[in-house]
Amino acid sequence: MCDLASPQLEFKDGKTPVSGRFGDVYFSKDDGVAESRYVFLQGCDLPELFKDKDRFNIGETGFGTGLNFLLTWQALKESQSNCRLHYVAVEAFPLTPDDLQETYSHFTDLSDFSAQLILNYPYRQGGFHHLVFEDGQVSLTLLFGEAAEMLPEVDGCMDAWYLDGFAPSKNPQMWRKEVFQQVARLSQRGTRLATFTAAGHVRRGLIDVGFSMSKRQGFGHKRECLVGTYDAPVARSIHPWFARPVHHQKKMKKIAVIGAGVAGCVAARRLQEDGFEVTVFERAAQAGSEGSGNRIGIVKPHIVLNQKGVGRFNTVAYLHALRFYDQLTQTPWMGARGLFSMSKNEADEARHKTMVARHILPEAEVEYIDAQEATKRVGLEMPRGGLWYAHAGCIEPSKLCQAVAAGLNVQYEQEIRQIEREGDGWVLKTQNGDVFETDGVVLAMAGETSQFVEHFDLPLRGRRGQVSYMAVGDKTAGMKHAVSYGGYMLPAKDGTHIVGASFEHWNDFTDHGYKDILESSHAENRQKLSILLGEESLDIMDGRASIRAMSPDHHPIVGPVFSQDWYVEEYHRLKHGPRAKRFAPAQYVDGLYVLCGLGARGVQTAPLLAEILCAYISGRPFPVETSIREALHPARFLIRDIKKGNP
Ligand SMILES: Cc1cc2nc3c(=O)[nH]c(=O)nc-3n(C[C@H](O)[C@H](O)[C@H](O)COP(=O)(O)OP(=O)(O)OC[C@H]3O[C@@H](n4cnc5c(N)ncnc54)[C@H](O)[C@@H]3O)c2cc1C
Ligand SMILES: C[S@@+](CC[C@H](N)C(=O)[O-])C[C@H]1O[C@@H](n2cnc3c(N)ncnc32)[C@H](O)[C@@H]1O
Repeated sequence: MCDLASPQLEFKDGKTPVSGRFGDVYFSKDDGVAESRYVFLQGCDLPELFKDKDRFNIGETGFGTGLNFLLTWQALKESQSNCRLHYVAVEAFPLTPDDLQETYSHFTDLSDFSAQLILNYPYRQGGFHHLVFEDGQVSLTLLFGEAAEMLPEVDGCMDAWYLDGFAPSKNPQMWRKEVFQQVARLSQRGTRLATFTAAGHVRRGLIDVGFSMSKRQGFGHKRECLVGTYDAPVARSIHPWFARPVHHQKKMKKIAVIGAGVAGCVAARRLQEDGFEVTVFERAAQAGSEGSGNRIGIVKPHIVLNQKGVGRFNTVAYLHALRFYDQLTQTPWMGARGLFSMSKNEADEARHKTMVARHILPEAEVEYIDAQEATKRVGLEMPRGGLWYAHAGCIEPSKLCQAVAAGLNVQYEQEIRQIEREGDGWVLKTQNGDVFETDGVVLAMAGETSQFVEHFDLPLRGRRGQVSYMAVGDKTAGMKHAVSYGGYMLPAKDGTHIVGASFEHWNDFTDHGYKDILESSHAENRQKLSILLGEESLDIMDGRASIRAMSPDHHPIVGPVFSQDWYVEEYHRLKHGPRAKRFAPAQYVDGLYVLCGLGARGVQTAPLLAEILCAYISGRPFPVETSIREALHPARFLIRDIKKGNP
């Protein structure tokens, strides 16, 4: 999977980065900063345009050292505008963090910005990598891969483009029709464009896809460069049934989030950072009381070997969660970082070793260790080898929710009984008859979300889970790290191990009888644990049970609520084949969104899901590939059924 080639970087005169692969410089050797500011920022009327905008999206072909990005970020800060910048950049030959370190050692004025970029810089793996800076004011989606392959996976509309892909004579790949068509697809009338080149075929190619182009004075010794403005119709979504909502995003200011579990809390925080006025409603007296009320949630990747499409979701969600939790002021991590995932059998061992060999996760994150090494690290005898995840660990979900909720307006002990569309907004009614008006609503009530969605069948299934609290034993007293083995066992805290978790069908989410502690579930946990402890058993002192809300394909559900009747009417012909152009773009229930079905991995998927939700509501580019976003879309089950000719 590590299919990204090296740029073969060298430093000319000890400071100007040059790609040996292309034989070209990343920026002017005379004054890279002045060149970038002149060609790209001024070429797109920045920072002036930040002043009047709430949000500004920039696309770049050729991220390179990130100099254009850092200068744009710096210019935004200096403009003191509250505008939110979302920067999407594609790069086929990523530099390493050491290369960036070396580059920016010569740009000390940018060190505040470059240090953050280097710290968060993604590992060398193809696909989208989403980074968030400045408490959410600045976000960067880096697309590692060939421009013509990655840009079709972007869903977003840029306000400006920086085209910066080495000289067209040295790199024709970057200046071909397929790339220009994508640049046009991701533009709207008025989108600005700037590039350092004045090559005739570039100018003509951009005119052909809908840009009005003009020449301006070039930088330094260069005679001319180009600027342009998009002036053609906006392209339609490839899959209209999953199109992003185009309703009154701009008018939405007030958002109500129902449910203060990990999903609702993290989403509310990101929406608030994104400039919305957010109120959270929670029926319990505190955040993180239901599914998110466990004493411990493990943050550990769920990796599948097929990393295409949605297969990559859990990998990127895990890495995003590590960044998100590491950035919180109050650390949510408990105990030592580092978790051992034991191979259950030979097939599992082969799969684990393949995963490491394919570099699905960065080398710094995962390695295969044998039983002896695992025993040493964990502090408990391990019968088999397995994967060591260096930064995985445990989080107390209820404490996490409470810490995140502390910065939010949360209305506790307010059970929402009814939501109704009224005029341009929504009216929420509580159990006391209190009424709350809002522009948009996010339903984050786990399994109970279904009760509030009348417009389509939200297919959530309940899976009860019970953890057992077991007394520390002689053999387990020295355990230092969490272990997973089909079940999981955590190092003892206050004399107690948490061992989990059972998995039982429980389909009525409103029947809270699932909370009763069952001996049969304790027995299930103990039986799984025998793979580690053999005949020896630990005393069970107590436990806790809650319920996981799962979708049929076990992926979360995030996105706008749609009308099933309208979908069936509009898209029933899909069963004859997807001739997409004949279908109208999806129509949604205005301002109503779901974030649910987080299943057995909500603690680690919630931060990235919150980014996706935010992109839907704010209209900014999505932080993940379209193939991933669509695989999490609420209408995916219905569309699958329609294609099979079912409804
Ligand atoms: C036993 C067990 C172990 C688990 N272990 C892990 C783990 O190790 N790692 C991991 O990542 N995940 C784990 N999970 C999964 C994880 O806990 C869930 O995915 C996650 O908590 C779901 O969060 P949520 O916010 O969607 O739901 P919840 O936390 O259930 O939040 C929903 C909230 O909505 C509120 N609500 C509902 N209806 C209303 C209403 N009408 N008005 C107002 N409020 C309402 C509820 O009170 C609740 O607080 C585990 C789950 C279980 C059951
Ligand atoms: C001139 S450099 C970009 C400089 C960059 N904007 C900066 O601020 O440092 C051009 C970049 O385009 C990348 N590139 C070249 N061909 C590409 C392609 N086909 N797809 C994606 N990126 C490509 C190169 O690896 C290089 O990083």
